[in-house]
Amino acid sequence: MISLKTYKLMDQEDPLKHFKKNFFNQKDEIYLDGNSLGKMPRNIPEILGKTINNQWGGKLIRSWNESWLELPNRLSEKYAKLLNSSAKEIVFGESTTVRLYQILLALIQSGNYPDNIITDNLNFPTDLYVIEGLKKQFPRLKINYVKYDNEIEADIDLLKENIKKNPGIICLSLVTYKSCYYYPMKVLNQYAIKHKSIIVWDLSHGVGSVPIDFKESETKIAVGCTYKYMNGGPGSPSFLYIENGLHSLLENPIQGWFGHKNPFDFNPQYKAAENLNHFKNGTPPILSMQAVESGIDLTLKAGILNIRNKSIKQSEIIIMAIKDQLSSLGFKLQSPENISRRGSHISISHPNAWQICQALQRGSKTTPKIIPDFRPPNFIRLGINPLYISFEDLWWVINQLHYIIESKSYFNFNQDKSKVT
Ligand SMILES: Cc1ncc(COP(=O)(O)O)c(C=O)c1O
Repeated sequence: MISLKTYKLMDQEDPLKHFKKNFFNQKDEIYLDGNSLGKMPRNIPEILGKTINNQWGGKLIRSWNESWLELPNRLSEKYAKLLNSSAKEIVFGESTTVRLYQILLALIQSGNYPDNIITDNLNFPTDLYVIEGLKKQFPRLKINYVKYDNEIEADIDLLKENIKKNPGIICLSLVTYKSCYYYPMKVLNQYAIKHKSIIVWDLSHGVGSVPIDFKESETKIAVGCTYKYMNGGPGSPSFLYIENGLHSLLENPIQGWFGHKNPFDFNPQYKAAENLNHFKNGTPPILSMQAVESGIDLTLKAGILNIRNKSIKQSEIIIMAIKDQLSSLGFKLQSPENISRRGSHISISHPNAWQICQALQRGSKTTPKIIPDFRPPNFIRLGINPLYISFEDLWWVINQLHYIIESKSYFNFNQDKSKVT
């Protein structure tokens, strides 16, 4: 068992230790839910205060020309730096669900790919629902749902076999929401290209947690939310990436005025804007877009490789504790063991997972509250955001998991679940 002193020493040597102060932190609370909704950067009230008072309240309509029209482009430039692409290949706005529907529909309508959609049993439910809905709209589509013999890791050979047999459009989450499996992005992109297929990557759990290089990995299309590891706030806008070479081959099925070449000409005929601008739809949600920028700035400043290095160290500590101490108490690792195939959260299961989650959240006079998240039927997800999780935090988590089981304190909590877990 590693001593608390050793954890404190690791914190002292941590190159990212100063980043925590850039977030709004609650006293005596350890937040392990950044893989669902990241913490709020500390300067958000000031930034939104200015937007609300000076721009919305003061300058009103003039703010569009003075700053609001430029805001989405600025976010694109910053994401382009993080993901190695060009700002002209990234647009912000809408939820991930809407963007997924929009891009899958555009790909189907392009006629450039066979009418097959491949996804798998590790993908997030919204991705599966969108695909199921598209099948209703286009009965000719063949949906190929690849089911592995487990819920932790993809069987890449089986996936490839399916792509070879049914080439077309493939939709995968780069880092999966439950087990945190991390796909070999470049290998699969190249395989898809070889088989005249295209992968639409859902990067919701990937951006800000693992290094992603669109050019090096030969990624063609990606979408993702900004409210998890990027700390953009509840309902913050998602992003859509489409590689340059595809811009002229894909039409936006939502012909909105913000995707028009000259929206303020108010021409009754639609004329698509250049680059990826034609995948813009309607008025951008300025308040929530304004809140996204701080999280991107912090991630760029910290450096994604430093974030990944710390995340690896921290998740290995938890995995070691599960193996050495917690498995005898009924906890089971539900994430890949191999770090090169794992993102930045750890899933564990326990028959009393929901009660344990509640006990962790309650804390006590002498122990911090610990906020994990729960996924049915019995998974506890421990989200590691190295920008604000310290090594000492992990000591508390491991010790509290021990204590809750050994003291049977979780018996004090019932099985009823709240709406958002
Ligand atoms: C992998 C993944 N994709 C999509 C979504 C849903 O995104 P949105 O609510 O922005 O549509 C989530 C939400 O947690 C997710 O984890």
